[in-house]
Amino acid sequence: MPRIVAVSPSTLNDAAQILRDGGLVAMPTETVYGLAANALDGVAVAKIFAAKGRPGFNPLIVHVPDVAAAEKLVVMNDAARLVAESFWPGPLTMILPRANNSPVSDLCSAGLPTLAIRVPAHKVTQDLLRVCAVPLAAPSANKSGSISPTTPKHVADSLGDAVDMILAAGPCDVGLESTVLDLSGDVPVVLRPGAITAEQIGRVLGRDVGYDLGDHDAPKSPGQLLRHYAPAIPLRMRAVDVAPGEGLLAFGSTRFMGLRGGGAASALPDHALRNLSENGDLYEAASNLFRMMRELDNGQNSGIAVMDIPDTGVGLAINDRLRRAAAGSVK
Ligand code: TXA
Ligand code: MG
Repeated sequence: MPRIVAVSPSTLNDAAQILRDGGLVAMPTETVYGLAANALDGVAVAKIFAAKGRPGFNPLIVHVPDVAAAEKLVVMNDAARLVAESFWPGPLTMILPRANNSPVSDLCSAGLPTLAIRVPAHKVTQDLLRVCAVPLAAPSANKSGSISPTTPKHVADSLGDAVDMILAAGPCDVGLESTVLDLSGDVPVVLRPGAITAEQIGRVLGRDVGYDLGDHDAPKSPGQLLRHYAPAIPLRMRAVDVAPGEGLLAFGSTRFMGLRGGGAASALPDHALRNLSENGDLYEAASNLFRMMRELDNGQNSGIAVMDIPDTGVGLAINDRLRRAAAGSVK
């Protein structure tokens, strides 16, 4: 079983050390317990998906201690500032455009140009964010498809040894996940209801705010589908060679990859060759996935050939995303 520890200055330091070393810590927030990783470390973020057993890469909420920290990661428009003044710290998440050169791993955004960001109110979450001094990506600390945990025992029962430490601080006050407000488009819209309502937000913004509800883990109607990044050029999986004009998204050794018509894959020019992980590490591959798809989708390649990636652990999520990209899907 994972280490369940009561909160103290020394266990907060231990938790911060685990997070800075790329580990996972379950932390209390005012809504539900979160499964936290350093949002700047793509390999650590990839571990979240493996621990939750998520079949795909849903974008994650990034937690920061205050508005100043949020401003470094996202573009805060006027509406976002107003909403932040009224509801942060608290159980509200805003979807905003990522800042230029945002240091947050693009795995948190699942390749999207937006980022979900929240300033939590819980004293322990605040203390942990300040001690570890990095933004924390944290979905609810439960296996995918099960209900969100509001006690340390729920977390332990659901995640077991997949989490390195559980910071225990009793049951969560709200017990319901944060309201998710999308402010990245022209019309503000609530994507997930929570303790803070669309009506309350509407009063602050001086306009009507509606709901666009869908189960974002299992989308039902087309209007409610979460958009996902897909390259503009064709992508094929389990490639055993590279066709003329294609770029290669490699995984592991390229020793046995050849070019159709002759030659070795290692001879491809830089614009046509990326390796997700030379030594075949799935976490490293996940952390590089969205960046490398974009880099190969650069106007110089006519398509992307992807080498076989094992369908185990976080490889399941990688293959899920590659299949959507291969189908030309942005959903
Ligand atoms: O209360 C909470 O929000 C908890 C605590 C730990 O903070 N966290 C949480 O995270 O519930 P998670 O990953 O279980 O839910 C995140 C929600 C999902 O519905 C996801 O689709 C949506 O936020 N989301 C995240 N990033 C998004 C983005 N860039 N665009 C649209 N939706 C996004
Ligand atoms: Mg959840």
